[in-house]
Amino acid sequence: MTIKINLMYSDPMILKTKTIFLNCLWIMISGFCAIPAFGQPGKNKAFVPIEIWPDQNGQHINVHGGGIFYYKDTYYWYGESRGDKTFSGGVGLYTSKDLYNWKNEGVVFAPVDNPESDITKGCTIERPKVIYNKKTKQFVMWFHLELKGQGYAAARAAVAVSDKPTGPFTFVGSFRPNGNMSRDMGLFVDDDGTAYHIYSSNENYDLRLARLTDDYLKPTTQDSLLFSNHREAPALFKYHGRYYLITSGCTGWAPNEASLHVTNNLFGSWTRIGDPMRGLDAKKTFQGQSTFVLPVHGKKDTFIFMADNWRPKHLQDSRHIWLPIQFKGDEVIIEWMDRWDLGFFDK
Ligand code: DGJ
Repeated sequence: MTIKINLMYSDPMILKTKTIFLNCLWIMISGFCAIPAFGQPGKNKAFVPIEIWPDQNGQHINVHGGGIFYYKDTYYWYGESRGDKTFSGGVGLYTSKDLYNWKNEGVVFAPVDNPESDITKGCTIERPKVIYNKKTKQFVMWFHLELKGQGYAAARAAVAVSDKPTGPFTFVGSFRPNGNMSRDMGLFVDDDGTAYHIYSSNENYDLRLARLTDDYLKPTTQDSLLFSNHREAPALFKYHGRYYLITSGCTGWAPNEASLHVTNNLFGSWTRIGDPMRGLDAKKTFQGQSTFVLPVHGKKDTFIFMADNWRPKHLQDSRHIWLPIQFKGDEVIIEWMDRWDLGFFDK
């Protein structure tokens, strides 16, 4: 469509009116064209990595460094509820039935006013993960905790529990697992219900794995060094009886190259496969950092890689990168896609 407008008038009053008219026209056209990439709130039909991802109210989803689990027909996405700079508002929760459309359920675990508490306001809560304990019927949250005013020196793991997935979660305590520093972390539940805490330790030089007690509230002393090559952001998953682990390098909020390791035995030796990322900006994990690998419910051998594209000045605006994990023979790859949906797994 071409819009022809005669600009030959010289009367200043007419010109002013004309300018206002053109400005209004431009605002109307750009407003009409600015349909959110994910579609209308509540009508998302695809994953569009790095774009704003609107929740049911049209607000960008503000949970980061998080993880998802599926319970009774619903996906629960927990993560860091963030504000500007390092502000940690606690752990936020969104729920979804289809993985595209998410409802903000609010903050389910928050720092408290008590200055004596490990989780006093001003502490840092990162990378929360929640798992369900079938024996105790509790929802158990683990997260990386940094004590108020100590930067990243405390390096502790912390635990909170709830009898509902929607919380509120009650703080149980914080500690260094078996005396080890604990920063970036993930949880993994094996097919037999045994749970594990995987964590960056020793100033992030070591990646460690600890089996949890049966109630999932503490680490046992079965706690091993997996490898020692300065990695963080661990995301562990199991495919065809083998355990895969995606990690990032350690460059603060800045993206770096990812790495994939594999083993047949969680406490055995791990083999480095290399960087599984392919395509645009692959060597920088597509400007993201791993956080979780989500098994898609009801679709066998189907996993989604989840990463954070951090925006450190406005952490609440950090974007989400979700991509399908592809198994091609012995190769495991994660390829950049501008836009994709779950139909990809049926091809
Ligand atoms: C990298 C970690 O993976 C993030 O969770 C966060 O702790 C930043 N470092 C802070 O610089």
